[in-house]
Amino acid sequence: MNHLLITGGVGFIGANFARYVYESHPKVQIVVLDKLTYAGNRANLTDILGGRVKLVVGDICDAPLVDRLVSKADAIVHFAAESHNDKALVNPWPFIQTNIVGTYTLIQAATKQHKRFHHVSTDEVYGDLPLSEYGSGDEGKFTPTSPYQPSSPYSASKASSDMLVRAWTRSFGLQATISNCSNNYGPYQHIEKFIPRQITNILSGRRPKLYGSGNNVRDWIHTNDHSAAIWDILTKGRIVETYLIGANGEMSNKAVLEMILQLMGQPQDAYDVVRDRPGHDLRYAIDASKLRTELGWRPQYTNFEAGLQDTIEWYTSHRSWWETSKAQVEQTYARHNQ
Ligand code: NAD
Ligand code: DAU
Repeated sequence: MNHLLITGGVGFIGANFARYVYESHPKVQIVVLDKLTYAGNRANLTDILGGRVKLVVGDICDAPLVDRLVSKADAIVHFAAESHNDKALVNPWPFIQTNIVGTYTLIQAATKQHKRFHHVSTDEVYGDLPLSEYGSGDEGKFTPTSPYQPSSPYSASKASSDMLVRAWTRSFGLQATISNCSNNYGPYQHIEKFIPRQITNILSGRRPKLYGSGNNVRDWIHTNDHSAAIWDILTKGRIVETYLIGANGEMSNKAVLEMILQLMGQPQDAYDVVRDRPGHDLRYAIDASKLRTELGWRPQYTNFEAGLQDTIEWYTSHRSWWETSKAQVEQTYARHNQ
């Protein structure tokens, strides 16, 4: 594992993982392959680029480029994706292309060259859970054997990519693992996403926007914990296995927003209710016991309020990172009454 190819490594989670490996494993050489879409930001890695970390700007659908980079790697960790549900509902095509064709291109190269492959995926492939169980003390959660029931264009494209990886392990002997993680939060997350959108709305004098009732539940995990889990799976996980990553962080959107408002000194009702997301998944929740018992992984960021406070401080002190794109992100949302 001395040469890693990380796809999507200047996006929110890919960059966090690259940094995690860079800081905790000083012998590892990293090549990041990233197309620098609207979601990729070179600034997420600038301080560690050069030396042990190289950035190649390119597309995971470019087979000759992928073949060349895979030939130099011991393992591939695949984050690159179109990742935002609201965008997929407006234009699904880039999701089909990158998430499905891109993953196909990578696993073809990894299979031919007998390289270890880790596929980063999402809990959304399992669809959603009923809201009625939330708070009952007897809640169901997603497990690695839950049926695939994706309900949105984004989750269907990620489910497709998981299925390709699974099929390639069985039909062609691809040496792969898959992880399905819940909602990440932390610094460097694109401001189109729920938590950074609300923080930067408040910082820029706009009102936060809550979709529909705000009762939908997400299972929050700090992105540093996600990165540590992926490293454990890459280095200790059993080939062909799926591991679910989550940190028991279930909260309704309304409760998260109220916590942000309180931490930022705003009145509890200082937000707008806007058009709900079509087909909005109700609840996600992860049972990560396989990851905990088999690989000994434990989340370090167990105090969500403290993690949120740190995240608010990061966006407050990194205005130049997000301020230039804020107006355009909000204009796009406004076109869809969100
Ligand atoms: P992101 O949108 O912040 O970053 C995606 C990165 O992929 C960007 O740097 C982008 O430039 C790059 N990219 C997109 N298309 C590409 C292409 N064709 N070729 C090369 N690079 C391309 O996404 P994220 O939130 O960091 O998510 C990373 C991965 O983790 C995704 O696979 C996503 O499905 C998965 N995931 C995300 C979450 C979450 O909460 N954000 C949770 C579970 C799983
Ligand atoms: O569960 C893992 C998934 O989490 C990842 O696979 C996706 O890549 C990632 O984007 C995330 O998907 P969500 O759709 O859950 O995240 P998002 O931040 O877009 O929205 C979180 C919740 O907040 C969701 O219920 C919709 C709601 N929401 C979102 C926005 C942007 C609002 O109420 N208001 C908003 O302004």
